Amino acid sequence: MGDSFAGTVTRAPQELEKDALEHVWIHTTEWVRLAEEGGLRVFERGEGSTLYDVHGNAYLDGISGLWVVNAGHGRREIGEAMAEQAAKVAYVSSASYTTVPSVQLANVLAELTPGDLNRIFFCSGGSEAVESAVKIAKQIQSMRGFPRRYKIIARRGSYHGATYGAMSLTGDRKEEYFGPFMYGVHHVPSPNRYRNDFNLEGEAGDLMCADYIEQEILAQGPESVAAVIGEPVSTSNGVHVPSPKYWQRLREICDKHGVLLIMDEVINGFGRTGKMFCTEHFGMQPDLMTMAKGLSSGYAPAAAVAVSEKVYDIFKEQKDKSLAHLLTFGGQAVAAAAALKNLEIMQDESLPKQSAEKGEYVKSKLEGLLEHPTVGDVRGLGLMCGLEIVKNKESKERWGKGHDYLKALDRILNAKGMITRVWDIIHVAPPLVVTNEELDRMVQMIDESLTEAEAQFQGEIGT
Ligand SMILES: Cc1ncc(COP(=O)(O)O)c(C=O)c1O
Repeated sequence: MGDSFAGTVTRAPQELEKDALEHVWIHTTEWVRLAEEGGLRVFERGEGSTLYDVHGNAYLDGISGLWVVNAGHGRREIGEAMAEQAAKVAYVSSASYTTVPSVQLANVLAELTPGDLNRIFFCSGGSEAVESAVKIAKQIQSMRGFPRRYKIIARRGSYHGATYGAMSLTGDRKEEYFGPFMYGVHHVPSPNRYRNDFNLEGEAGDLMCADYIEQEILAQGPESVAAVIGEPVSTSNGVHVPSPKYWQRLREICDKHGVLLIMDEVINGFGRTGKMFCTEHFGMQPDLMTMAKGLSSGYAPAAAVAVSEKVYDIFKEQKDKSLAHLLTFGGQAVAAAAALKNLEIMQDESLPKQSAEKGEYVKSKLEGLLEHPTVGDVRGLGLMCGLEIVKNKESKERWGKGHDYLKALDRILNAKGMITRVWDIIHVAPPLVVTNEELDRMVQMIDESLTEAEAQFQGEIGT
């Protein structure tokens, strides 16, 4: 290594792309393909719903990073709040102390979250929030006198994170690389009105999924089950919106069997679904709620678990015991300042309401795309919409993960200037500040991309 790294930080766009290719570990094989085609995406700045790469090309961000940038890109006021806090104090030990913005943020979150979710445990990302929630649930069960309640019921198709415990809860958890997983995790079906596991239409199918969880608790033995975890509306499982009765029944089932209910709002939270928290659509509250992403709109790594008073009370009763779990960066002051400013913006600009209205608007436009032979379904809540892409609309047959058709669709859409995720679902989840005109452009780009990709794969569609 040389004496100075100055030369490696001041680089021309092409050199930056080359460096990125050599030194940054990017998740997807798509990155390598883009490199081969000379089309890497190294972004330099953003504004609202638009991202600009190092060459100055503009892209509409159709997925808010990864359902993260709810307040939009380029919010100078969040940067300024962070700089101000960093200049005052950035970090104190989270084991014994806290800081002014952390206290303020905890207050605001206690106020915003439904019901009595008033105790806030801070951490840095969604996986950490899920790990923390699971550990809190297990410790509380033990402190209540049930040390053998260690099992967690999670749902097929869910995504809860990449760390070991969170990955173990996740539906598609890559057994071939990482098994065996955390002991005691059991997966159950989750609501899906497009392809119902039980051949029951609408709400009846949702309720069957709730009853299935009760059967699973009984089969495992309630005295061994610590918690049930689920995303209010799971994006990884395809943005299926269940009936409120699903979550209400699950609440009753958990209460009946002494099982804690964890709702994972990591994607759903902070206006994404048209309310501050998705749970509000369902008229109930969990015992623990995880949150991340939109908490800071991605301006800083910030996450949290909100715990109900009723559940936390055990720590008040057993004063000699503390939570056996700590993360160095939980409640870091600059991250808390970023989150606070982000939440202030959300409130001032009524972003959850905007999400509800724009979500309705774009969903109605997306429904027009059902005329395409490969669009099987359109669904969503607020600005969290998805189009299910199928090979055969009659049979609902999928193309299959990584199929060339889906790759072609992704490539065409990207080349037109829209960024999103194209797997079985094309996600439409832009920043909540998106304009109707930008939404129209996104729908048009998806429409044109479908037409082009369908022409390329004509012989395979509907077969
Ligand atoms: C519902 C849900 N929970 C947890 C996580 C994990 O969050 P992170 O990637 O910040 O660790 C994710 C990430 O996408 C998520 O969607």
